Amino acid sequence: MKSILQCMDCGRQYPTDTVRYTCETCGGLLDVQHDLEMLRTQVSRELFDRRLGSLDFPFNSGVWRYKELVYPDIPSELIVSRPEGNTNLYAVPRLAGWAGVDTLYLKHEGENPTGSFKDRGMTGGLTQARVLGMTRVACASTGNTSASLAAYAAWSGIQGIVLFQNKQVALGKLAQAVAYGAVCVRIDADFDQNLALVRELSDRLGIYVLNSVNPFRLEGQKTIMFETIQQLRWQVPDWIVVPGGNLGNSSAFGKALCELRELGLIDRLPRLAVIQAEGANPLYRSFQNGLAPLEPLKADTIATAIKIGNPVNFPKAARALRWTDGVVEQVTDQEIMDAKALIDAQGIGCEPASACSLAGVRKLVAQGAIKPKETVVGILTGHVLKDPDATIGYHAGTLPGLRAEQPNHPHEVPATVDAISDLLMALNSGRER
Ligand code: F0G
Repeated sequence: MKSILQCMDCGRQYPTDTVRYTCETCGGLLDVQHDLEMLRTQVSRELFDRRLGSLDFPFNSGVWRYKELVYPDIPSELIVSRPEGNTNLYAVPRLAGWAGVDTLYLKHEGENPTGSFKDRGMTGGLTQARVLGMTRVACASTGNTSASLAAYAAWSGIQGIVLFQNKQVALGKLAQAVAYGAVCVRIDADFDQNLALVRELSDRLGIYVLNSVNPFRLEGQKTIMFETIQQLRWQVPDWIVVPGGNLGNSSAFGKALCELRELGLIDRLPRLAVIQAEGANPLYRSFQNGLAPLEPLKADTIATAIKIGNPVNFPKAARALRWTDGVVEQVTDQEIMDAKALIDAQGIGCEPASACSLAGVRKLVAQGAIKPKETVVGILTGHVLKDPDATIGYHAGTLPGLRAEQPNHPHEVPATVDAISDLLMALNSGRER
């Protein structure tokens, strides 16, 4: 049987070649459903292991290595791939010690072609745009989605249109969208308003929406879980910890893990921990009340990537939390930036939103939710260069209300070997920092 689109609430089905994001009957979010019964006989750990390190398109991609579980029916010539994925899973013993667990890994999705996990979704989204014959694609974005959309649209010769909020878009992300040639529109509205605008605009003008309300995006993002578990040699960690904004990843992870179990590729599910910024915490609030209906809020956080008050994927994320016996935690901007500084100082680096993962692990360990002996994988969602202002501002002490424990100040000295040598001596003797 071919894959279908299916409403998560009422079960109504649509063929995959229809332009739909939500159910016509009940407004529910749509899932791409594959014929898992049939796939059971086609996929195995060995198949995916054989494709590791492949030089052949499309299996050289860390998304399309799992083609059968992403988009089994797709002819390879329609696939739009840079290629993405194949990101590192770092064992980080020093950060594990800081967080209070024996074994911590960080999966660095900032190592994707445009520096964030969005590329895994965008390869799915642009491929589907080709299936549908769309000539324009659009998104609202806090920055990374637009960088990724701009690149993948340019790569496939489709026009990309991105709606930014006027303020607080991280410099690296804006620069990317401009450089890749997307139509960039700055609007005096926040992400949540822009997402509503882009959906309406797209309906009216026949433009394809590539925010994570698009279920083909989430099929690509599922592969973060596939790849992580494959990198762990198919051993299931106890926890997956991920930042939560529009909740696309949380939703995709839940679906990915259940599919792996249904296919017999793993025998148990890890628990999902979604970490939100305290100033952008609608899922956390809902979770505190037994996953009560979402109450949208006005978001504010230094982690601009996740400055989202009305996450569109809330129902799917709530489902993922139920499936995985998951939890939701919140962290302050100070905790986010301190955790980021530690990740950066390991030589790995990440953007502020990503550091929610590490800050969240530490908090959940302190509360006793994560046990010290459990194995934890934290997802780093974006590259350190995405938001240089946040990094420099933190170390310079110019971010309002935030201070650095161990600031790393650039030094200024005259252009002489003596001056530089004196400085290095002073630093080593502890007279300077
Ligand atoms: N981390 C980073 C670096 C992000 O860019 C985003 C989302 C998230 C985490 C949250 O992921 O939405 O799946 O819960 N950025 C979107 C954007 C909203 O427009 O770039 P989520």
